[in-house]
Parts: sequence; structure tokens; C-alpha cells
Amino acid sequence: MGVVMRPFVAGDAPALTALLHRAYAELGERGLNFTAVDQDEATTLARASAGQTWVVEDEAGLLGSLTMSMPPGDELQGLSAEARRPGRAWLNQLAVDPSRRGTGVASRLWAQGRAWAQRVGATHVGLDTAVPATHLVELYQRWGFAEVERISWPGKRYVSAVMVRGLAAQP
Ligand SMILES: CC(C)(COP(=O)(O)OP(=O)(O)OC[C@H]1O[C@@H](n2cnc3c(N)ncnc32)[C@H](O)[C@@H]1OP(=O)(O)O)[C@@H](O)C(=O)NCCC(=O)NCCS
Repeated sequence: MGVVMRPFVAGDAPALTALLHRAYAELGERGLNFTAVDQDEATTLARASAGQTWVVEDEAGLLGSLTMSMPPGDELQGLSAEARRPGRAWLNQLAVDPSRRGTGVASRLWAQGRAWAQRVGATHVGLDTAVPATHLVELYQRWGFAEVERISWPGKRYVSAVMVRGLAAQP
């Protein structure tokens, strides 16, 4: 089988939930209570179905995932002026199994998500991530994103940076 990427189906919710918990555990241990640290399967299904989701898997099971939404979710639009702007697709629930980090899985998912956003007519992709997670902010900067806004999600112990990237920009 090798490593393949395919669209998420509802039956993936249990395995995707377990993957998200494995991937986000390090953030949870740092006190960053991202939803994906401990979300239940119904939440995974709702979040994955709120847009287009891909999973990456091999014989051993799921090892990566990404959700892209356009337009961004209602709650986010209530918090972020950027998310309310026309032409915005949003990157969500990016995760790679800790044992598979640094092998290009996230970059591959991002390339897929970016192509999808262009196909559905987005002019920009946005995302939000925890300001204290500087390694993530730096990763997204390398991917061409720049911070435009800060928001506070209810119940989160951190402030989030809203970052945006135009789809015409390189790379
Ligand atoms: C963030 C995350 C998705 C990256 O996944 P990944 O598959 O390891 O990333 P890739 O191998 O595609 O590499 C992406 C970039 O990170 C760098 N990178 C990845 N792992 C690295 C490591 N161990 N050390 C240094 N750099 C690393 C790569 O060089 C690459 O940089 P580039 O895009 O400029 O070339 C993964 O670490 C993860 O699941 N983290 C926990 C969940 C999370 O933080 N999600 C995002 C919430 S906003």
C-alpha cells in the first residue's frame, strides 16, 4: 500500500480522533489546550465534515490529516475580521503522527489543501494557531503566512495568531 492520501470518510472518525490526540499531546503538555488535545469522536466528525478533509495512511493506519474550509466556520467568523473577508479558505486540524514527523507529510497535505482552495475560488488561506507555539508560527511563516490579527477563543488558555497567505504568492 505504501503511504497514500485520500479524502476523509465518516468511518475514519475514531482513528482520526486517536491520531489527533497523539499529535496534539505535546501541545497539551505545554498547557496549550487546543481542542484536538482531547476532543471526542463526534467533534472530530463535525470538524472534519465542516470542509474538505484528507487523511494520509499506510498499512499501520492513519498518520496525517488536514481540513480546509471555505467559508471559515461561523464561530471563527464571529471572532476574526479576517475570516469574514471574502475569498478566505481556512486551514484546520493539521496533524502528523509524532513517529512520522519531518518526512514531508504536512507539506504534502498543505500542497493538497492549497490546490483545493484555489479550485474552489479562494484568493487567500487563513489559519489560527497559539501565539506561544512559536515553532508553529515559524513553520507557517516559512509556508508564506503572515500574522494579521490576534483573537481569543472562549475557553482557551492562550491567545491565537490569525495568519494569512495569498494564493498567488510563492512558494
Ligand atoms: C506541525 C506538524 C503538522 C508538522 O508535520 P510534519 O509532517 O513533521 O512536517 P513536514 O515534515 O511536512 O515539515 C514541515 C516543515 O517543518 C520542518 N520540520 C518538520 N519536522 C521537523 C523537525 N523535527 N525538526 C526541524 N524541522 C522540522 C520541515 O523542515 C518543514 O519545513 P519546510 O516546510 O520549510 O520545508 C506536526 O509537527 C504536528 O502534527 N504537530 C502537532 C499538531 C500541530 O501542531 N498542529 C498544528 C496546529 S496549528
